[in-house]
Amino acid sequence: MCGIVGYIGSDNASDIIIDGLKKLEYRGYDSAGIALQKNGQILVHKYKGRIANLEAAIEGKDLYSHCGIGHTRWATHGAPSDVNSHPHTNGDGSIAVVHNGIIENYTELKEWLIAEHGVEFRSETDTEVIAHLVGLYYDGDLMDAVYKAAEKMRGAYAIGAICNKEPDKMVAVRKDSPLVVGLGEGCNFIASDIPALLRYVRKIYLIENNETVVLTKDEVKIYNADRKEVHRDVFHVTWDADAAEKEGYDHFMIKEIHEQPKGLYETLHRRLLEDDSIKLDGITITKEEIENLDKVYIVACGTAYHAGLIGKFAIERFARIPVEVEVASEFRYREPLINEKSLFIAISQSGETSDTLAALREAKSKGARVLSVVNVVGSSVARESDDVFYTWAGPEIAVASTKAYTTQLMCMYLIALHMAKEKGVMSQEEYLGYIRDLKEIPEKLKKILRSEKAIHEMAKDLYKTEQVFFIGRGNDSAVSYEGSLKLKEISYINSFAIAAGELKHGTIALIEKDTLVISLAAQDHLFEKMLSNIQEVKARGAYVVGLAKEGNTEIEKQADRVIYIPECRDELTPLLSVVPLQLLAYYIAKLRGCDIDKPKNLAKSVTVE
Ligand code: M6R
Repeated sequence: MCGIVGYIGSDNASDIIIDGLKKLEYRGYDSAGIALQKNGQILVHKYKGRIANLEAAIEGKDLYSHCGIGHTRWATHGAPSDVNSHPHTNGDGSIAVVHNGIIENYTELKEWLIAEHGVEFRSETDTEVIAHLVGLYYDGDLMDAVYKAAEKMRGAYAIGAICNKEPDKMVAVRKDSPLVVGLGEGCNFIASDIPALLRYVRKIYLIENNETVVLTKDEVKIYNADRKEVHRDVFHVTWDADAAEKEGYDHFMIKEIHEQPKGLYETLHRRLLEDDSIKLDGITITKEEIENLDKVYIVACGTAYHAGLIGKFAIERFARIPVEVEVASEFRYREPLINEKSLFIAISQSGETSDTLAALREAKSKGARVLSVVNVVGSSVARESDDVFYTWAGPEIAVASTKAYTTQLMCMYLIALHMAKEKGVMSQEEYLGYIRDLKEIPEKLKKILRSEKAIHEMAKDLYKTEQVFFIGRGNDSAVSYEGSLKLKEISYINSFAIAAGELKHGTIALIEKDTLVISLAAQDHLFEKMLSNIQEVKARGAYVVGLAKEGNTEIEKQADRVIYIPECRDELTPLLSVVPLQLLAYYIAKLRGCDIDKPKNLAKSVTVE
């Protein structure tokens, strides 16, 4: 997590850096700071709290500078405080660094710096070690000092560094944390992610692992771990900077909920040929390779993992290939039995999630083919995969993932249908039926969004609750995990999801008078079973909100409140049923006065373990 931005050019660095940091607040927002070259000195301003605090603190100060680095933080080592905020400097303040990642051997390095070099530490962070190391090795060449410091460090990092003795230079280095370089006219930039730079540049260098970059205002040079200069093709950004603005919505989350019909339309129609066959751009896995697959592993974190659960249903149901779904943080350390006959599917909105990336590397090292479903073009997961299938959700800014999830589902359905066709286990007629139904999803979703007001009204009756259970079966159970995560992460209500049939094996002990139970009964073939589960919790006094397809009005006899979704075949209901849950979470959080786009303790892109 954390976001870094650096600028070198002729304009006012602090304005540009702060503007860029605001676009990276999704990566962390518990403190922010800036270091600027000015009159042979490095000026540092850093404060606990949002970037707005930093802005207010420096307002009116003469900070005009042509070069600087900035940081927005998600604390890993040391609580959010002014002193723990980045940038960090060496002892005499001649060098400043910003860092995204974790230095795993920082304790060892810190002890060594104190014992052998008498270094005095000011903060509790791992990052301060970097500043002192660079300072220790500095002998007139910042690049050399950064290289030597990097050789000492273990862990993940994207680092930006400046030195007062070289005011016209900035050095950056990356290992396992994202870093991009923006190429301007008479100015250059570094950043953790492209949106920070979109207002200024469209030409980007995507920096690879273990590369070091030296920037002046007119030149950018990239070097590999052996200090050899490397060539990099320019990546031209084509997407719209406005996509990262709220456009009149109160929050990015609600804007992104409303963008789902468009995202789903794009994700589907960009892959459909005139005859409705699917052309999986970016996927080169052959028919023969699909036929020979023993197993599919789907690995991801958080919401993307929940999309993977639906992916399992789809691939097993359509293509008849066994699928294991696992959270990446577990997969990476359990020595999985994956091999060259396995397909590993990584799902990630950001494409930078540390655990997902590590799991992907583990799968590759065992010979598995790696396919990724990713939203951010050119991200690390995308670049390290054999095949990439992009979700066309557009930039997702709110920490709570919504449109990334539904477009991930669409991708998983398309991959599953493609596999089924290639394996010859689905008839053309059945296949065309699914495609026809998928095409109807965006319009059906618009219909759900038109009932937003009713969900808002429902939220008014529910927002004071402090405990919620989500239950469902099959696909609905997977969607209930996502509904529950949405609610807890933005409203801080203690929310728990469980397969409805499992409830009676323990968790039902927690159901008492007025306990809120949101019961998903969106599949016809499990509808009656769900009615029984609703009765079980009603018998213990629960207050039940049911979710069902239009026409399944029987649920009104059991549930206290009902949300309907349009008619849809059972296998595809997750594309619709999650949306009322997203809306409910949003309005409950809003009524509770929560900071919806930036929930406490979270960050959009989890680039640390
Ligand atoms: O960028 P990714 O899709 O890899 O991120 C995975 C999770 O960190 C993410 O989905 C997280 O759970 C969201 N906050 C959920 O809304």
